[in-house]
Amino acid sequence: MNKTEQQALSQSDRAYTFHPSTHLAQFARGEAPNRIMTGGKGVYVSDADGKQSLDGFAGLYCVNIGYGRDSVADAISKQAHELAYYHAYVGHSHEPVIRLSERIIKSAGMGMQRVYYGMSGSDANETNVKLVWYYNNVLGRPQKKKIISRERGYHGSGLMTGSLTGLPLFHKAFDLPLDPVLHTTCPHFYLNGKDGETEEEFSARCAADLEAMILAEGPDTVAAFIAEPVLGTGGIVPPPAGYWAAIQAVLRKYDVLLIADEVVTAFGRTGAYFGSHLYDIEPDLITIAKGLTSAYLPLSGVIVGERVWQVLEQGTDELGAIGHGWTYSAHPVCAAAANANLDIVDGEDLTGNAWETGAYLQKSLHEAFDEHPMVGQVRGVGLLAALEFAADKQKRTPFEPSMTVGARVSAACLAEGLIARAMPHGDILGMAPPLIITPAEVDEMVAMVRKAVDKVWSEVK
Ligand SMILES: Cc1ncc(COP(=O)(O)O)c(C=O)c1O
Repeated sequence: MNKTEQQALSQSDRAYTFHPSTHLAQFARGEAPNRIMTGGKGVYVSDADGKQSLDGFAGLYCVNIGYGRDSVADAISKQAHELAYYHAYVGHSHEPVIRLSERIIKSAGMGMQRVYYGMSGSDANETNVKLVWYYNNVLGRPQKKKIISRERGYHGSGLMTGSLTGLPLFHKAFDLPLDPVLHTTCPHFYLNGKDGETEEEFSARCAADLEAMILAEGPDTVAAFIAEPVLGTGGIVPPPAGYWAAIQAVLRKYDVLLIADEVVTAFGRTGAYFGSHLYDIEPDLITIAKGLTSAYLPLSGVIVGERVWQVLEQGTDELGAIGHGWTYSAHPVCAAAANANLDIVDGEDLTGNAWETGAYLQKSLHEAFDEHPMVGQVRGVGLLAALEFAADKQKRTPFEPSMTVGARVSAACLAEGLIARAMPHGDILGMAPPLIITPAEVDEMVAMVRKAVDKVWSEVK
């Protein structure tokens, strides 16, 4: 693409496209960047300026198999030629979906029974909430409807899912959160742990806060708890020691369903096939998206466990066919993409690579940043990692938000040739490269992060 074509495209984009999570006015006025992406191969992407970047965030932690995988492109093409679409209502199906559901259920284990498909993590979580409400109505408990999420949790940006999301940016001026949603303590030990408190004690305190909330609301009004196995967009925070055991004990005590939002963690990201496997989580419902197709096409799912499934069957015996479905549920071309994607995930043991190369990434980041004066904490699991920046490392004091330290480090990474994400809340640099990344590419990545952090530190110290 020559410069004239690129400028014309950019003008058109600024004039006609409504971009998500973008400063709309600045973008329209040409004051915010407009990066037109043109290609991708392996862990690298390139743009219309001819600039290549190592994609250290795999798009939005979704392109797990990396870019440019022919077998997925071919599977999409073949399915589009054979049967581009047929709906899945009233028992219609197609081979790619049938094969996909069986492999998801078998790989999940944990008593999972069925997969319902959508197009995004957000719509899958909307489905989850509806299923939880339906479940309690069928059981004759119409008052048991509240959903407890966590501060800094991320579950989407729809009406209900934006409410579940515990980040102020997603509520402000949207009249959210909606009423039946509550937010409990964020299990971020670095920020919320008290002086002298151990991780286990902090986990017990998080569980006690959850219990107090359930008791204050009335256990007969609380239907479900939703959480990511590893807190993602809210800051990439692995759970503190003992967290999941303590939380699940409370949920069982008050008969509260557990929704594990595995949109980021499913299909290998943490070094386990599901985050629930890694942390001994026993969910009633699981949300999947991103890594299901590595974003070659949009596809999400709700995996329904035994306890809920039995009641859904009972409900349809009493009430008739379930009144829920999207035109594109179980789309055959997306399912073909998912099968081809999971063939790569399984065939190349990308879960194993996330475990091994992930451990190497974590070790390299600790070596590079544990002693760095601007880095308060290095954390992560598998191929999910974060640096949390601090104005005072010892006291864990954050920078003034107006200094936009996280965004500046992310911009400095980009100048070096690395995409690493300034997480939307706090000064946190997030990393989640494709699961195919090699140790040599990790070295390249960490070296670029180091240069970027040093550059910003020289400006702010
Ligand atoms: C844990 C989690 N749940 C849900 C979502 C929403 O998914 P989508 O953006 O596909 O609607 C995301 C997106 O990042 C996520 O990280």
